[in-house]
Amino acid sequence: MLGWVIYNGHLNSKKFIEFGQWIKFAAQTHKIDIELVKNNDCYSVMDLDGPVVLHSYFSELPDFVVFLDKDIALAKQFQSIGVRVFNSPEAIDVCDNKITMYQRLSEQNIAIPKTIIAPKTFFKPQNIEWKSFIRIGSILNYPLIIKEAYGSYGDQVYLIQDEKELKKKIEELVHIPLLFQEYISENIGKDRRIYVVGDKVIGAIERISEKDFRANVELGSTVTAHVPSEKEIELSIRATKAVGASFAGIDLLTNEKGEPIVCEVNTNAHIKNIYDCTGENVAEHLISFIVNDIEKNPKN
Ligand SMILES: Nc1ncnc2c1ncn2[C@@H]1O[C@H](COP(=O)(O)OP(=O)(O)O)[C@@H](O)[C@H]1O
Ligand SMILES: [Mg+2]
Repeated sequence: MLGWVIYNGHLNSKKFIEFGQWIKFAAQTHKIDIELVKNNDCYSVMDLDGPVVLHSYFSELPDFVVFLDKDIALAKQFQSIGVRVFNSPEAIDVCDNKITMYQRLSEQNIAIPKTIIAPKTFFKPQNIEWKSFIRIGSILNYPLIIKEAYGSYGDQVYLIQDEKELKKKIEELVHIPLLFQEYISENIGKDRRIYVVGDKVIGAIERISEKDFRANVELGSTVTAHVPSEKEIELSIRATKAVGASFAGIDLLTNEKGEPIVCEVNTNAHIKNIYDCTGENVAEHLISFIVNDIEKNPKN
């Protein structure tokens, strides 16, 4: 079997290449060849003969693709020509946009912080209807969180202390899809990331920041191994299923009752931290899952 690991050629991130190399290494045990492939070396072409994917150097298409990128159009193109894609393009699509991700989780009755979607605006609105944003502030109370729908590494997540800060942020971001969220103050700068492959939890880490309300490692938090509770395990597996992912890193917060709630589902969570903290190699679990899935449903 041949698999491609797709990563983004325009991102200067060694992490995805490293993730791909771990997958390549894990696949050797199963006698599977893996090529690390940049999304921008693949061309999604459509004409009267239907869709194809052309590659700059390779003529042979893979049996499956591990998609570590968010080039959803390319993921869908692979799917439409019959190449299996892990995670599925639908799961990547749902989670790429935090608005659709929370909608999906909420539809499945999965505990999340209270979330309100910003009303749609067009680029550079002539007048901002302040009262609708102020009303959102009074429903959620301050401090509250604003998140851009598209964002990662904590960079597009903002803590808003009062109405003045709310107005300032809205003026800056009004043309971008946004959501507003209750601030879960029980765990300032702390969250837990649970790694799921298929219907199993592989391991978990706790991330703690001393200097920021966001627990992202990229913003300087420290990471330790975490033994997930039964509730955390059950919730993380349900969240993974709700978005249709085969593998995911689920960020959990803890509410005032001490119950876990889902902050985010990541469809391409990096795997080095969990390996360093727990010795669990997510790539090995993922390759076993893929082999098993293809054997079970050879024609999918
Ligand atoms: N509602 C919230 N209450 C408290 N902290 C939050 C909330 N939402 C996010 N955070 C903190 O901000 C971090 C980043 O938020 P997240 O939604 O996971 O965005 P990103 O995709 O950028 O990681 C989380 O890991 C958590 O520490
Ligand atoms: Mg996150």
